[in-house]
Order: sequence, then C-alpha cells, then structure tokens
Amino acid sequence: MTTKTSMHIDPYERTWMIVSGVMLVVFLVAVSVAGFAMGIQLPNPDRRVDPATVATDPNSPWHPDNVGLRELSPGKYEAYILASQLQGWRFIPNEITVPAGSTITFYVTSQDLQHGFKLENTNVNMMVIPGQVSKLTVTLSSSGEYNFICHEYCGSGHAIMYGKVIVTP
Ligand code: CUA
Repeated sequence: MTTKTSMHIDPYERTWMIVSGVMLVVFLVAVSVAGFAMGIQLPNPDRRVDPATVATDPNSPWHPDNVGLRELSPGKYEAYILASQLQGWRFIPNEITVPAGSTITFYVTSQDLQHGFKLENTNVNMMVIPGQVSKLTVTLSSSGEYNFICHEYCGSGHAIMYGKVIVTP
C-alpha cells in the first residue's frame, strides 16, 4: 500500500515562484559579469589611520610633503589624496597628471568628516570616511580630463569640493 501526497500550488503562485527563481539566476549572472568580465570592484577599506594626525604626521603619506602622485613603474601610479573640510573643502592635491594608459591606485582619506570621491566616466566611486583609507584602482586609457567630485554632503563648501585627473596623450 502506498500513500501519495501532493501539495496543491495555485497556478499564480507557481508562476511567481518560477519568476523569482529566474530573477535569482539573472542577478547571479549580472553580478558575475560585472565582477569578472567588466572588472567592477567594491572599494576596499585599505587600512586605518588617525584622522587627527593623518595630515600632520611626517610619516603619513597624506602629510603635505608626501601627499599626491607617486610613480611605481612606468605607467603605474599611486595617488594619495586627502579630503579636507578643515582646509577649505578641498582635495589635496586637486589636480594630478598622468599619461594615457596609466593605472592609478587611489588611496583617499579624510582628516575631518565624511566625504565622497567619484571620478567621472570611471568605476571609481567611494565614500571617504575619517579614520579609514578608501582604495580603488583604475586604468585611464583615453586622454582628456576626468573630474573628481565629493558626492557626500559635507557642509557649506561641499559644492566647491572637486578636482581633476589630466590624462595626456
Ligand atoms: Cu566633501 Cu562633500
């Protein structure tokens, strides 16, 4: 003797279960393509720093003597950028120049409050949090000017907080 049980599923419910399953697959494919094929990365918190001394400690990469662009090898750069409300809503430095095809790793931190860092027409888009270093790498293959802006509201000077990366041919 066998007992056979089957669960009743309403046709509408069945349809929505199938739609939900398909959406999960679509999302998984989209995330995989973005991450592995298009190289879209999430900003990495790179290290912790003390916002009170990050711009004044002579050993800090964001000290006025050290901040800015460093060439590691031809076409490979690191850019240490300080976001500052205390010094008049500025990125320091607010202009860097590299040749086309360069790869730049940005290390951005704040000495006061929360800022943002978005480099136009690239995937570089990160929050800049005091005490934390935001890190992202980008390759700029075409020449031109790429503006970067603060996109986290940081007070009355927020709108003037911007700079640019100049990419020369
Ligand atoms: Cu800094 Cu908005």
